[in-house]
Amino acid sequence: MADKPTKGLADVVAASTALSDIDGKAGRLFYRGYDIHDLAGRATFEETAHLLQRGKLPNRSELDAYVDELAQGRELGALASANIGEIAEKQKPMEALRSLVSLAAADDVDKDSIAPDANLRKAARLTAQQPLLVARYHAARSGGSVPEPDPSLSIAANFLHEVTGRVPDPREVEIFDECLVLHADHTMNASTFAARVCAATLSDMHSAIVAAIGTLKGPLHGGANEQVMKLLESIPPGQVAQVVRDKLAAHEKIMGFGHRVYKTEDPRATHLRKMSAELAEAGGDDTYYRMSKEMEEVVFETKGLYPNVDFYAASVYHYLGIPTDLFTPVFSISRMSGWTAHVIEQHADNRLIRPDSEYIGETDQKWKPIDER
Ligand code: CMC
Repeated sequence: MADKPTKGLADVVAASTALSDIDGKAGRLFYRGYDIHDLAGRATFEETAHLLQRGKLPNRSELDAYVDELAQGRELGALASANIGEIAEKQKPMEALRSLVSLAAADDVDKDSIAPDANLRKAARLTAQQPLLVARYHAARSGGSVPEPDPSLSIAANFLHEVTGRVPDPREVEIFDECLVLHADHTMNASTFAARVCAATLSDMHSAIVAAIGTLKGPLHGGANEQVMKLLESIPPGQVAQVVRDKLAAHEKIMGFGHRVYKTEDPRATHLRKMSAELAEAGGDDTYYRMSKEMEEVVFETKGLYPNVDFYAASVYHYLGIPTDLFTPVFSISRMSGWTAHVIEQHADNRLIRPDSEYIGETDQKWKPIDER
């Protein structure tokens, strides 16, 4: 007889990892022992991805080699490229990414290997390809074209240019790069767990990433940032407090608030709030920042909930000119670094992940032939 399950596996330790750690009471997050407050605004996304996937913050020559590998690996394979137009017509952004990453596997030279060196190469290629997949998808659906990625520029700079169609201001690039650093890894979140469950069957990295993308898509996880923006856009001027109170009174969730692990402010939200304020001021229109601040106050007063990473990310991405339905794909661009690192870690010390379940169905059922049922 199995024990009673913990609903949603809350507080269950499902894996050992050296990649990231959260102190939920103190509101702290660490990547391989580095405090996120020390990395944010200092380490680039490329350095952070190297830290996660390759175990250390790179020195200059290691970073140059890794950046070069990313540039070499970013071109999409023939099957993904050939299908992007039709996919863009028929699928929403996260559905499209799920399809395109699956198609990208077909042209990956290491697709049949889960050996450590093959996994490292695939992790770099997936990280490099993800922003280009999002940009090419966006171009395909809007009838535009994607400027050729500039190998001398960062993932953040290239992506903003590709998606907004304008050369971004250097400060915008810094801010977006910091967003990517903040979203890179987060212990046993739902999409990372999905990736590890898949990898633990000794399935390949692309399959694990497809599982992760499908899991990130949901509004209780990565899909929340898009829902936050939709809510902000839907509220008539001066109605924030009323709308929020009405929703909470009706037991509706306000997306971007609450967290399974943090019992205080999510440390990533601290940085994102500042970025939202800065971009609002720089752009001369602080409407969404002000609305977000008011919403934060009302939710805290009414429910005692803090904003999570998705809350201020919404107004930040909006101010950067990223279309709202690409907010969750942007999350996936960053989290690709963490997902792939978790697959590498899982394959390096594997055991099938196969928990037990509590049976709550009927018992002692008697068989009847079909015509007697
Ligand atoms: N708005 C209103 N009430 C909430 C919210 C919210 N955003 N979050 C939690 N609650 C309430 C919930 O209704 C419940 O109240 P009661 O005990 O009275 O029924 C209580 O708080 C516990 O909530 P829960 O859903 O059981 O908590 P959980 O640990 O299972 O869920 C969560 C965590 C993040 C899914 C949840 O807080 C939520 O749904 N938040 C909104 C979606 C969201 O912002 N997701 C992004 C999460 S962080 C980044 C990421 O992973 O992508």
